[in-house]
Amino acid sequence: GQHGDLAGRRVIVTAGGTHEPIDPVRYVGNRSSGKMGYNLAIDARDRGAHVILISGPVALPAPYGVELHQVETAMQMRDVVHSFITNADVLVMSAAVADYRPQVAATQKIKKQTQHEAMGHQDGGALTLHLVQNPDILGELATTLDGDGDASRGSGGISNTPAKKRLIRVGFAAETEHLLEHAREKLRKKHLDLLVANDVTRLDSGFGTNTNKVLIFHADGAMEDLPVLPKTGVATAIWDRIVPLLG
Ligand code: C5P
Repeated sequence: GQHGDLAGRRVIVTAGGTHEPIDPVRYVGNRSSGKMGYNLAIDARDRGAHVILISGPVALPAPYGVELHQVETAMQMRDVVHSFITNADVLVMSAAVADYRPQVAATQKIKKQTQHEAMGHQDGGALTLHLVQNPDILGELATTLDGDGDASRGSGGISNTPAKKRLIRVGFAAETEHLLEHAREKLRKKHLDLLVANDVTRLDSGFGTNTNKVLIFHADGAMEDLPVLPKTGVATAIWDRIVPLLG
């Protein structure tokens, strides 16, 4: 019943997890299915938005009427987000972006040490992966935006059309413990307009499920505890809260 309330708006939704290559055949990944993000993209489309869906590798069909950009790594996702950010009204980061990536991706498949080779080593043939931090796509945007003249958001760097319009930023937090504390901390640190938090240890919530039980944290400190809903319903609830924030 929110037909057309995003007409004329350009929204970016990120979805799925990222794959961080170890070598040509292996990656570091996570359990994100992309369902929440795809439902967010579909709902925004149905409300009339121009939707840019930036997706990590998922097993979901491409939604019609949505501009889909497929990426693998966090660094690729960041580049694509940056390429569309200037004209966007909303950025919803529902992707489970890898916090770490292997420092180097081997150019050839890493071979297992033979039993014989391994025997000669103290570690018995163990392999160590050195991981380095990925940039925080949402976090770094928050500190470089200067679109609304809000000094607390800093200035310089990646600029949203200065003094013209403001970008609504929505983050997600998938947590296994201390949900409220971590959610409040992320909302504050990343200067978000909304943060959607879910406890991924619940059977009816989080990775791979078709339902979700979320808490929505608002910038003013308000918190809403939503019931278990299908992910389509959670998507609608999220857009229902974003729309009033748009000027
Ligand atoms: O800090 P954490 O990864 O839990 O924050 C989650 C939120 O930040 C999500 O909205 C996620 O998409 C975003 N994020 C990001 N870049 C990262 C890690 C997370 O934009 N490197």
